[in-house]
Amino acid sequence: MNELAINIQNLEKTYSTFKKDAGFSGAIKSFFVRQTIRIPAVKTMSFSIAKGEFIGLLGPNGAGKTTLLKMMTGLIPPSSGSVTAFGQFDTSTRPPAYLRRIGMVMGQRNQLHPDLPAIDSFKLAQAIYGIPDEPFERRLKQSLHLFEIESKLNIPVRKLSLGERMKMELILAILHEPELLFLDEPTIGLDFNAAKQIRNFLAETNRQFGITIILTSHYIKDIEELCKRVILINEGEVVYDGSLAGLDVRVQGERLFNIETVDESSHSKIMQWIASSEGQVKMTQDVSSNEGISFAVNSQKVGETVKEIFQLVGPHAIRDMTINERSLEDVFAEIYSRRPGATSVSEERD
Ligand SMILES: Nc1ncnc2c1ncn2[C@@H]1O[C@H](COP(=O)(O)OP(=O)(O)O)[C@@H](O)[C@H]1O
Ligand SMILES: [Mg+2]
Repeated sequence: MNELAINIQNLEKTYSTFKKDAGFSGAIKSFFVRQTIRIPAVKTMSFSIAKGEFIGLLGPNGAGKTTLLKMMTGLIPPSSGSVTAFGQFDTSTRPPAYLRRIGMVMGQRNQLHPDLPAIDSFKLAQAIYGIPDEPFERRLKQSLHLFEIESKLNIPVRKLSLGERMKMELILAILHEPELLFLDEPTIGLDFNAAKQIRNFLAETNRQFGITIILTSHYIKDIEELCKRVILINEGEVVYDGSLAGLDVRVQGERLFNIETVDESSHSKIMQWIASSEGQVKMTQDVSSNEGISFAVNSQKVGETVKEIFQLVGPHAIRDMTINERSLEDVFAEIYSRRPGATSVSEERD
């Protein structure tokens, strides 16, 4: 039986805030004429997550990742639609039986008390969740060992480094053996080694205990190493949902050209040639004439493309040309840019 951990149906979240004009006169004006700004942070999403999956929610800043995670954990209610957990809980009502089965680490929101050593917060969690001594100590010992952080257990949390604090937060989040773990940007701001240790810990936790993990990041390395399935989000919408391997095909199957021309007319000739290629040649970024033109072609067509460009503008019109494999970053950037101008910050007076 493959029960669902999470089932999201037509989920939407629109924030309403009041627009504030700058300065004192602005404040007076805002007092009399209040403009409501509606921010559609999540726009009609539907997808589900099976038990045991390790999902990466990836997207640029402001894409709606945190908002989505907050609705899954019940921290904020949706504007419409629903999140059902374990086939039975409506997360918007924050059922205690659901909260006991999840763990979360939400970025800036610390669960550990800064003035107390981590061990005190761990013991508090043990009491709150009623965790028997034996599994509590086993899990704690195992986690501390994985993180090589045993010696920091009795130091007030505010004296720990950012990486050490994140490790302690993670330990706290899994002590009660949750079945579902939510992590919002767990490696943000961490140095390479700490980020690596956290990825190892998460991989181990997912593998050993079969915990379903849903992680957000705008950092591709996290996703590359951990998640079999990635959900790319841009401007509140899912723009890709599938395996990383599926994206890899695109990476390996394409080559990225960057061409700088000596003059404006050659530049526009190449731009026109791209426009008339009927999708065979894909622009990968919008650039002004002095930055060169970047586009991707099928890796089989590299020779043909070079020939066509030379015929079009002549070799002397080209100042520089590079041909590279595409990075995952490039592919993501291209996918993100597929929904141009979709933001709609509508203002209304009331
Ligand atoms: N409490 C809030 N009130 C108003 N707007 C918000 C609030 N929280 C987030 N937003 C807006 O919603 C959008 C999505 O934000 P968020 O979910 O934090 O994205 P991400 O985590 O992907 O960076 C952004 O435009 C952000 O400014
Ligand atoms: Mg966020």
